[in-house]
Parts: sequence; C-alpha cells; structure tokens
Amino acid sequence: MCGIFGYLNYLVPKSRKYIVETLMDGLQRLEYRGYDSAGIAFDGGNEIPLNDSPKMPCVVVRQKGKVVDLRNAVAKLEDNNWDLEFETHAGIAHTRWATHGEPSAWNSHPQRSDEDNEFVVVHNGIINNYKDLKAYLITKGFTFESETDTEVVVKLIKYLYDKHKAQGHNLTFQDLVELVISQVEGAFSFLFKSVHFPGELAASRRGSPLLIGVKCESQLATNHIPIVFSKEFRGAVVQSPLLRPETSAEAEFHPLGSNKNIEYFFASDASAVIEHTNQVIFLEDDDVAVVRNGCLTIHRIKRGEISEPSHREIQELFMEIQQIMKGNYKYFMQKEIFEQPESVVNTMRGRVNADKLNVTLGGIKDYVSEIKRCRRLIFIACGTSFHSAVATRQLLEELTELPVMVELASDFLDRNTPVFRDDVCVFISQSGETADTILALRYCKQRGALIVGITNTVGSSISRESHCGIHINAGPEIGVASTKAYTSQFLSLVMLGLVLSEDSLSKKPRRDEIIRSLRDLPGQIKTVLELDDQILELSKQLYTEKSLLIMGRGFNYATCLEGALKVKELTYMHSEGILAGELKHGPLAMVDPTMPIVMVLMDDPVKQKCMNAYQQVAARGGNPIIICNENDEELSQLSNRTIKIPRTVDCLQGILSVIPMQLLSFHIAVLRGYDVDCPRNLAKSVTKN
Ligand code: F6R
Repeated sequence: MCGIFGYLNYLVPKSRKYIVETLMDGLQRLEYRGYDSAGIAFDGGNEIPLNDSPKMPCVVVRQKGKVVDLRNAVAKLEDNNWDLEFETHAGIAHTRWATHGEPSAWNSHPQRSDEDNEFVVVHNGIINNYKDLKAYLITKGFTFESETDTEVVVKLIKYLYDKHKAQGHNLTFQDLVELVISQVEGAFSFLFKSVHFPGELAASRRGSPLLIGVKCESQLATNHIPIVFSKEFRGAVVQSPLLRPETSAEAEFHPLGSNKNIEYFFASDASAVIEHTNQVIFLEDDDVAVVRNGCLTIHRIKRGEISEPSHREIQELFMEIQQIMKGNYKYFMQKEIFEQPESVVNTMRGRVNADKLNVTLGGIKDYVSEIKRCRRLIFIACGTSFHSAVATRQLLEELTELPVMVELASDFLDRNTPVFRDDVCVFISQSGETADTILALRYCKQRGALIVGITNTVGSSISRESHCGIHINAGPEIGVASTKAYTSQFLSLVMLGLVLSEDSLSKKPRRDEIIRSLRDLPGQIKTVLELDDQILELSKQLYTEKSLLIMGRGFNYATCLEGALKVKELTYMHSEGILAGELKHGPLAMVDPTMPIVMVLMDDPVKQKCMNAYQQVAARGGNPIIICNENDEELSQLSNRTIKIPRTVDCLQGILSVIPMQLLSFHIAVLRGYDVDCPRNLAKSVTKN
C-alpha cells in the first residue's frame, strides 16, 4: 500500500509555505499506508531559485524514510521563497510502501518523465505489464532511473505527449491519461501533474482507492458531477498510437456552478482530507478526473451497461479525523483483520490464474529447478511467521515430495544445525528485519545453501540478503500482533508449493482443486468476518478467565499455535496451542469443567481423530467452543457453542479457521481494557536477538 495526496487551489491565493505544509500534513495522515519513503512535487519557477535547479518549473523532492524526513529535506531547500503567493497551484505528494525496488530516493514518488520534470506522477498499486511497456519505451530512446513499475507510466505519458505534438495534435491532460490507462494492466490509483498543464491535476484509479475533497466558501451549486463518456479510441496505444476523434474539451466541462474560488484535495483515503472539507467524491475504477480552470470533470472511455451511473455524487462525510485514521475501526489490528479479503487478493494478484489453473512467482522463477533438486527444504522463522510454515508444511511435503523441516530461528542457531550446499533455506518474516531470522539466514548462506526470502518489506535486510524470494504484498501492518501478514504468508507458501509441483502430472488434480479454491477465498474470509458479533459474545464469556487451551491437529494445528500466541500477546492470559493427538500424553490432566477450551474441528481427513479428542474432553466435563465447518450437523447437535466457517479445500482451511481466533483474542483484550495495537513489552520488529 502507498498513500497519495494532491492539493490544487484555484483563485485562492496561498503561499508556497501553506501549499507545501498542506501536502505534508496530508501525507502524514496517510503514513500508515506506507512509511519507507516519501516525496512531493510543487511549482518552482524563476522567482524561486531552489538550490540545485534554479529554473526548474516543477520541483521534486524525494526522501527515503518517513514523512518527517521529507519535511526536513524540504525545509533545507535554500532561498525557497516560502512566502511567495500562488493564486492557482497544483501539487502532489506520496508516501511509499515499497513493492518494486528497495526504499530509496530514486524509487520514491513522484516518479518523473525526464530531468526537467515535465510530467510527474504518484501511484498506489502494481503495474503488471510494466516490463513490456518499459521494453517498448527503451526502444523509443527512454532511459530509466528507478527500479519502480511506476516510472513506465510517467515516461509513457511523455512519449504520447511528444508524439502527438510532433504530429500537430495538442492532446489535453485528460486525453493523455485516458491513453495511458488504456495501456496499463494491474492495480493503480494515479495522480499526474505537468508543466505543460499548469494549474491542472489529472487522476485515475483501477483497483486502488482514490477520492477528491472539494472545498469552497459558498455553497456548492450541485451535489453531483456528470460523467463525460469519451469516444472510444481506435486500436491499442503503444503498438499504434492513434488519435482519438476530435472532441471539444471545453464543451465537456461541467463547472461546479458559478463557484470560482475553489480548492481540491485528492487522497487515498478520507483521513487526509477531512480536516479541510467533508464534501468528497469517491472515484470508481477507470474514471479519469481532471481539474482544469478550477472545474472538475470526470470522464470514462466508454459507456458500458445502460444501468451505469451517469454522474458521481458529492458525498458528505460525517466523520471525525481520529475515527477515519483507522477507517471505521478503533484499532489498527482490527482494521488489519478486516482488510484480509483485500490483502489476500493483493498476495495473489498477477500470480494466480484460476482460469488457466496456473501460478507464477516472478521472484523465484529462475531458481525453481534448483529448488526442486534440493536435499531438504528448511523453513526458518519466528513467532507468527514460524506458524505460517507449520501451517503449510504438510502441503509442501505432499506437493514436492521433499523432506521439509520447519525451524524456529533461535533454536536452529542454538543447535548449530547441520546445513548443506544442496539445502534450500526459506526465511519467512513480515518485517524482514527480525534479528534471529537474519542471523540464521547468514548462517545458512555461509554454508552454501540457496536462500529464499518471504517478506512483506521490499528492501528489508532479509529481502536484500536472499538469492530470490516472494513479496507477500499484504500492505503495511501497523498493529504489533500480526494478522493479515500471517494469512498472506500462508498463501505465499501455498503458492510456492503449487509452483514447485507445476510439472507433476500425478499432482495435477490436487493442484487444480487448490487453485480453484483460491478464487473463493476472499469471499469466504468476508463470510468469516461476519461472525464478529457472535465472537464478541463468546469473548464476553471468556475475558475474566485465567487460561485458554486451543486444540486441533493436521492442517489446523497451526491455527491452535497461532491462536494461542494471539491470546497470550494481546490478553496476557495463559494460553496453549495443543496438538489434539498429544492430549492423552499430558495436557488432558488440565481438563475439568472449569477449563476454557477452544477446539478446531474441521471436516477434513483427521476429523474422526479430532472427534476422539472432543469425546475425551467432554467426558471430563469440558464444554469447548468449537470452530467447525458450516453444515456440520453432528457438531451442531453436540455443542451450543460453535463458530461455523465456510468449507474450503483442507490445506487452505487454516486461513479461514485462524480468523475467529484473531477476533476472539482481539475482543478479549479490548474487554480486559488493553491497548491491542501496542501490547506491553513487545515491538513490531524484533531487531535484537
Ligand atoms: C506475533 C508477532 C510476532 C512476529 C515475530 C516475527 O503476533 O507478530 O510473533 O511474527 O516477531 O516477526 P517477523 O515476521 O517480522 O520476522
């Protein structure tokens, strides 16, 4: 995830200081969306000799680190003429969570078309076809200065601008953005600024959020913006850049009544605009929004269904700033739990093709045959990341037919575990900075093993020191207790298994079944999240207890371990994840009618064995809460405390069964009065061993 912010004042005189501060404050509010680098673009000009580029009409400042580091970098610009007033001005800004290219000034946004910053863009999302576009633009003489997918977009717009200009056609900003988005595949929200279109901003989105706040002194004359349906282009743009039929751009403008003095705020979410205005327009996929001469117009390339709306409402937000910082959620952890339908899609985006039944992982593709030939697959991690390996070990053994070891990084090092040149060592870490995991990685690398990194953080130590890897793309996780990163790690490991078995004929039916099931996963996660109220009620029965045992086996044993870890770290209650097969070897002694127990009892090949464990617990007076599949009549009759979740293929069931445990631990902690985002004694990233 990244955060986009833009500010345009039209006939509302503002000083450069005010403009830059407004952009910075907007970014600050979006910082939770990404915080490894940030950047800003605003108008320069002859009057403002900014240090290294005195005549630059558009100034771009980019900085690795947080928004505060960008603020400091901008403050250091010499002779910046902060008090200079602009009657009309358009500025854009960005806070980044790296996906392509490590965090650095060059990879930060705004990305630019050339050294003169003729076009600049900020982007949230991933461009899937950036390699093809880049190759094409290189043949046209472009050189690239960053490792980002975004840079192709801004080079493409300049290419189109120059090309059409050379042919005597002056395209509008809207024309150019429409041409660009018709070429781009993937997810995006874009905000463009250009020295060729002073006082204008052009935006578009597909799959990533973008809204526009509108502020003016007098009452807005309308509560909706009509959509202008542009005529369709002929042919593809890059192969054969063609002109759209002539349109009268001016005639298409729909001013907001007679309001002349107006300010616009473009943002990835409402938290960044609410302090300025509560009047907002939420853009839809493939909208192109342009502000020109103070007028906002929204364009679409062509009309689809007749039922498609012909305008976008200006909505009034009834929200407090604090509230929307975390969306509608009170805590980041809660927000992250509820983001999982979206984060799993981001993990699979561009990788899983459920129609063609194939999976590609670009980050390991050159190493797949080496991995398949290895002596052992060794998964090494800490905490929740370790549990994702426990959750998927059985599937990896089944699909690869390789010996799979799952190791806690600290213990692996304590044992001086033998590692060989033909081992493949996979390091899983949300932060990519966990000290024990990094030390284990270096230990294995020294011994000649192939190193695969699975992280949520591009540019982190683990991603840099690995030979190859998988970025889980879950977006920034702010709550200290890991939730959405776990389900995305789980999914990444499943995808790894699918890639490693792609040429096995005997595994094909199993692979096909799993890939088909992946398509339903986001919707099924939503269904589980709808159980929140029921889980809150169960939490009320548990929050004064001292202990909670969580039992299960097979594919769902990891849910017990992960559930118990969530309960411990958030509620400070004692909790244990128990392998149901081990019950009679000791833990059963703890069971009596007063012992709180959760059992994970899914309809899978070990269900009967789990039922035996249930009978042993019930015989000692235990009345466990049972997480089971919908339509499980047998369990519904046995217990009045069931949490029923959708059924998926056995090896993916743990992605769904862990969510009730995330919600349960969250609610118990809140009921006990604890700060779930910052549990005592813990930090998000454990960088000391
Ligand atoms: C628990 C939790 C920790 C981390 C562990 C490893 O909710 O978040 O157990 O999983 O500290 O961290 P990463 O994944 O960043 O290496």
